[in-house]
Amino acid sequence: MDKFSDLFEKAFIYRNRAYAPYSDFFVGAALKSDNGCIYGGCNVENSSYPCGTCAEAGAISAMIAGGGKKITEILIVADSSSIVPCGNCLQKIREFADENTLIICADLQKNMRVYKIKDLLPQQFSAGDMNNA
Ligand code: THU
Repeated sequence: MDKFSDLFEKAFIYRNRAYAPYSDFFVGAALKSDNGCIYGGCNVENSSYPCGTCAEAGAISAMIAGGGKKITEILIVADSSSIVPCGNCLQKIREFADENTLIICADLQKNMRVYKIKDLLPQQFSAGDMNNA
């Protein structure tokens, strides 16, 4: 899918910078924001394992710090043909996504699977769910 080449190339570079000495599983993410910019991140692990952060979380933080407000496309790349964002990251993506946001999961050979948030997170918690407390 040449369509997502720009995101793939960036995510691939970020993946190569991942800090993953504990799992040895290197992940890169690159996202396109509503402001036209691309932001990225990689997983950053920690000797205190729960302190580690996912690639998607890094990319989202970069987007917010860079002034982006919405994710139009997010691509995740790892040495896996079945990776999808973890549950925690799906919730983080959902905060800045809409029903058209594309979540592209790629392996190192550029094989890609394309999803929408509803495919991966069918039941979603959002701010609106707090109004009936
Ligand atoms: N990881 C990500 O960065 N993104 C995902 O979508 C799945 C998992 C990272 C977290 C941890 O550093 C390593 O992959 C193994 O779980």
